[in-house]
Amino acid sequence: MSRFWLRILPQFLFVGGATLLIWAAFGAADAFIFLSLSGLTPFFLMLRNLARIDVWLDAPTVESVPDGSGLWEGVFSRLRRMVRQRDQRQQKLETMLRDLQQAIAALPDAIIILDAGDHIEWCNPMAQEYFGLDERRDMGQQISYLIRQPQFVEYLSEPQSDQPCILKLSSDSILSVQLIPYADRKKLLLARDITRIENVDRMRRDFVANVSHELRTPLTVVNGFLETLSDMGDAPDAEMLKRSLALMTGQTDRMKRLVEDLLTLSKLENAENHLSEEEVNVPLLVAQIHQDALSLSGKNHQIELRIETDAGLRGNTEELRSGFGNLVSNAVRYTPEGGRIALTWKMEHGCAVFAVEDSGIGIESEHIPRLTERFYRVDRSRSRGTGGTGLGLAIVKHVLNRHQGRFEISSEIGKGSLFRAVFPSSRVVSAMPETK
Ligand SMILES: Nc1ncnc2c1ncn2[C@@H]1O[C@H](COP(=O)(O)OP(=O)(O)O)[C@@H](O)[C@H]1O
Ligand SMILES: [Mg+2]
Repeated sequence: MSRFWLRILPQFLFVGGATLLIWAAFGAADAFIFLSLSGLTPFFLMLRNLARIDVWLDAPTVESVPDGSGLWEGVFSRLRRMVRQRDQRQQKLETMLRDLQQAIAALPDAIIILDAGDHIEWCNPMAQEYFGLDERRDMGQQISYLIRQPQFVEYLSEPQSDQPCILKLSSDSILSVQLIPYADRKKLLLARDITRIENVDRMRRDFVANVSHELRTPLTVVNGFLETLSDMGDAPDAEMLKRSLALMTGQTDRMKRLVEDLLTLSKLENAENHLSEEEVNVPLLVAQIHQDALSLSGKNHQIELRIETDAGLRGNTEELRSGFGNLVSNAVRYTPEGGRIALTWKMEHGCAVFAVEDSGIGIESEHIPRLTERFYRVDRSRSRGTGGTGLGLAIVKHVLNRHQGRFEISSEIGKGSLFRAVFPSSRVVSAMPETK
């Protein structure tokens, strides 16, 4: 017998026994009246509690569970416990769901959940940003109405989970989009911004192509001379031989310069190659570079040296020599004979500045932002003709970065250029000893 029946059994027995006693003592009519009255009280109690439950069900909270007595008390307290447990479970689930949504929202990747018919069920803020989706307007929309690129529509109809689809957005960003099927024909769309990776990859390809091209030209020339010389047999023309050897040496020098610049650049770019620091006597260094410039110019330019401070730098002498030297050799090479060049070392608002100003050919403003790219030249043949490798300013930029320096370029076509290397005060060493 269940617990419920066991609990009401004494009441039944009491009412049954009392009815029998009344019947025996007062007759059947009185017994019937007693039995009816005993049954009516719990019946009305039940109706009253049913009505209270009916009202409670409209807003079922723990606090509003009705109170009852007797058997009803047990029922109501179990109801109260059930509702409390349900509330706690729901709160826990809500917290978990909120945490999960916050975690997904914080992901750097875009996530869209699609139903079996490719309608959007949910998306995170990154997806809204990448694809211009609106959280309210676009929910339930077919994804192919919103992302219309043909390659995406094709990918959607035949997704390959191991092969992402690459999409180029109007903002010039490149996205890698992947569809992952799950549950019952649902799909998870993941999109990741790979603009940077793609650009690095393109730069690497361009770089290899550029180096090959730069090396092939002098090699072809040398090869041509060698073939001509071997065609001449045992008795080559002495004058011709002398001229060919001189030209070949010029070409191999060019290759050597290129390889040296490439090695310098690779050393500077290698993050593991830490800057070895010392106190650099910049006034002395700049004076030596001035001498180099005079011999490179061969008295064809008027080259002025302005050392306005005896401050030095905490840094690497050889790297600074290479960086400053490149700026000065450019000034000599891109300034026609008779032009003026000035090398300045000075302090400016607590920063140390090395400036090279020339009255040379100048650079059009559209080229200036790209000058520090590897192999970027305004005039290829002029650069090559004067022994340029196209890597000089890339080297300068790296050297300055390694010294937390800023590179400033200003120029006017036909008037001249000003290249400035600005070093922060944290790099400045106040006064250098007389000689070093
Ligand atoms: N002082 C300057 N005057 C005019 N153009 C310059 C000057 N310095 C650099 N340039 C331009 O910047 C380009 C890149 O310079 P750089 O990287 O040093 O390579 P390059 O080996 O050609 O000198 C040069 O090819 C030239 O077009
Ligand atoms: Mg150069």
